[in-house]
Amino acid sequence: MTTSTVVIGTQWGDEGKGKICDVLSQYFDATARFNGGPNAGHTVQHGDQRIKLHHLPSGVANGRHALMMPGMICRPDELFEEIKMVAETTGTFPHVTVDRRIHIITERHREIDADKESARGDNKIGTTLTGNGPCYADKSHREGSRLDMAVFDRESPYHKILRDMVKYGLIGDSVREIRDMLDSGRSVLFEGAHGFMLDIDHGSYPYVTSSTCGATGIGMHIDPLEVCGVMKAYSTRIGAGAFLTEIESDAISDYIRERGREYGTTTGRPRRIGWLDLSVLEECHRVNDLDYLALTMVDVLSQLHQFHVKLRNGEWTSFPGWGYDISGVREFQHLPSGIRELVSTIETQLSIPVRMISVGPRTEEVIWRS
Ligand code: GDP
Ligand code: IMO
Ligand code: MG
Repeated sequence: MTTSTVVIGTQWGDEGKGKICDVLSQYFDATARFNGGPNAGHTVQHGDQRIKLHHLPSGVANGRHALMMPGMICRPDELFEEIKMVAETTGTFPHVTVDRRIHIITERHREIDADKESARGDNKIGTTLTGNGPCYADKSHREGSRLDMAVFDRESPYHKILRDMVKYGLIGDSVREIRDMLDSGRSVLFEGAHGFMLDIDHGSYPYVTSSTCGATGIGMHIDPLEVCGVMKAYSTRIGAGAFLTEIESDAISDYIRERGREYGTTTGRPRRIGWLDLSVLEECHRVNDLDYLALTMVDVLSQLHQFHVKLRNGEWTSFPGWGYDISGVREFQHLPSGIRELVSTIETQLSIPVRMISVGPRTEEVIWRS
């Protein structure tokens, strides 16, 4: 039996969690997302077909039972469209359980998000304007509207759509279903949204999102549980806030942005680009006790003469580039020396094994290490 696993982003989001969850989902019976809402954008690429998910866990694209847990928030109309998009793209109506306790993002939440951002002037957080913060604020104020409340509320703008979702059997109790699966020996892949540096408690407050982005965000105790941290070979950040390894050279950051398609999946905004900072990974490990790492986007660095990494102690080190396409490589020993040295440095600095190396956006573009 596969041990249940939680996948989290270790940096500022967009590390490639969608791709890694897509790859891993084949080994699990079900897949569940536990935090955030449509501020997240997770991309799965099957062949040339790119599927962008904002609410559903990425394993849904692989036909897995997809659950959305109580810590999430959602926009019912957009979620329903997303479910239909998955049905059209994959040719099968997905098996989805949307927890009845999930809070609803309203149009009003989006207006408040935009108004607050505009009132911040030069101190904008750079939110995704999806109403995330105001929705979680209402939830904490105990003034929010949950799915199981709105479904009986004829005044709710989502009343009809929620009735339809109930009719299709899409709304239920994700926690009970997950516990029943685990008790009967099945395994679940939990998918975190955002990145640990955006965590409401541990991130670079106030330039954070409004949910728990680490493994504890699952909100129910799972034992045994493996924790997989997804990290990019460089860093990106979208929105404002400190970014100590941000690259000053436009030529290099533009190159990485274009090659890595570093534009927001949700907003289309260009992502800020920086070198890898291992002190960020160390902080993430301290809180989340990572069992292994999935290193992504190494192929993006292909044409650079050299690339740089900031070590835990603040010193810099450099690795040689290679200059050829590595997306077809499937054996670790066939990777260029620059990547093998990078992996060895990460493992030595953090004492966490790098078990997966992603060499392109497609599902099959991955190297496994035992
Ligand atoms: P997520 O939010 O962590 O799921 O990441 P996003 O989907 O927002 O952004 C990651 C982007 O990188 C997407 O366009 C992916 O298709 C792509 N991607 C994922 N892994 C790799 C990789 O190893 N190499 C390249 N070139 N692209 C990747
Ligand atoms: P995925 O799951 C990258 C950032 C926003 C902003 C801050 C607060 O795709 O990795 P919010 O709208 O949540 O109130 O914005 O958090 N942010 C993300 N950045 N990837 C994400 O999700 C993000 N979700 C939120 O850009 O800086
Ligand atoms: Mg993303």
